[in-house]
Amino acid sequence: MAGAGISTDAGIPDFRSPETGLYDNLQSYKLPYPEAIFSIDYFRRQPKPFYVLAKELYPGQFVPTKSHFFVKLLEKKGLLRRHYTQNIDCLERVAGIDPELIVEAHGSFHTAHCIGRKCLKEYSQAWVKEKIFQDEIPRCNVCKSLVKPDITFFGEGLPPRFFELLENDFGSCDLLVVMGTSLLVQPFASLINDVANSVPRLLINRVRVGEASAPGTGFDFDGKHVGRTHRDALVLGDCDAACVLLAERLGWTDELAELRSAFLEETNSLGQDQ
Ligand code: APR
Ligand code: ZN
Repeated sequence: MAGAGISTDAGIPDFRSPETGLYDNLQSYKLPYPEAIFSIDYFRRQPKPFYVLAKELYPGQFVPTKSHFFVKLLEKKGLLRRHYTQNIDCLERVAGIDPELIVEAHGSFHTAHCIGRKCLKEYSQAWVKEKIFQDEIPRCNVCKSLVKPDITFFGEGLPPRFFELLENDFGSCDLLVVMGTSLLVQPFASLINDVANSVPRLLINRVRVGEASAPGTGFDFDGKHVGRTHRDALVLGDCDAACVLLAERLGWTDELAELRSAFLEETNSLGQDQ
C-alpha cells in the first residue's frame, strides 16, 4: 500500500507534510480550503486551479524512485500480490510494474472522461495533456462539459477495480508493506485492517501513522492493545532509504540498483543521483 511519500524523492510534493506538502502551497489558487482543488463540486464551478496544478504535476516529467523500483523487484521475484497506490502520478507504470498488479485507488491521469452526466465521453490522455499544456480548459466537443482526467476527486466513488480486487488480495496477503502515506483518507486507509490477524504488517514512513485507538483498528507497534508486540513493525524514515536497506538485508542490492540504472539508460533521463 503506497501514498505520496514514495514519490517525494522524485520531486513530486506530497499533500500534508508541513511546509513542503501540496496543501500548504496552494495559497495562490485562493481556494476555500486546500482539498477543494480535488473536490468534484468545487471543480465543476472552478476548474482552473486543478488544471494549473495538473500541468505542474503532469506525469512524464518525473523519474520513479528507488521505492517504485523496489516494488518492481518484488514483482520480478514473484512476491508481489498487488500494489495498491493512492498516487495519481503513474510512476508505478513508468517503473514498469505490470498494470495487472497495480490498483490505482484514486485513479490517475491515464484516461479521461467528459463529466457531463448524460455524456461521459472518453478522451485520450494525449488530448487532455495537449489542452492542459496549452493552458486551455479541456471541454467535451460533444456536450461542452468539462473533461477531467480519471482521478478520484473527493465526492466521487473509487474505481470499481479497487472494490473488485481488494477482498481476495487482502484475504490472501501474507505480508503487508505500507509506504509513504498518512493513512488519513478512506476507504484506502482502513485496508490495513483487512489482512488476517496473523499477517505481519510493516509501515515505512517519516512519521508514525495509522495507530490503533482500540484493538484491531490500526497498527499496534508497541503491543499496547494486545499486551505484546505482535505483528506490526515500524521503520521511521525515508521510503527510498528503507527500501535500499531492505534490499541489502535480502541480498538484492545489485538487482535493485540494476533495475534503476537500466531504466535511466533506457530513458536516458537525468536521474537525480546516478
Ligand atoms: N519517505 C517516507 N515518508 C514520507 C516521505 C518519504 N520520502 N515523504 C513523505 N512522507 C510521509 C509524510 O510524512 C506523510 O506521513 O508520507 C506521508 C504522506 O502523506 P500525505 O501527504 O497525506 O499523502 P497521502 O497519504 O498519499 O494522501 C492520501 O489524500 O488528498 C488525498 O487523494 C489524495 O491520494 C491522496 C490522499
Ligand atoms: Zn460530453
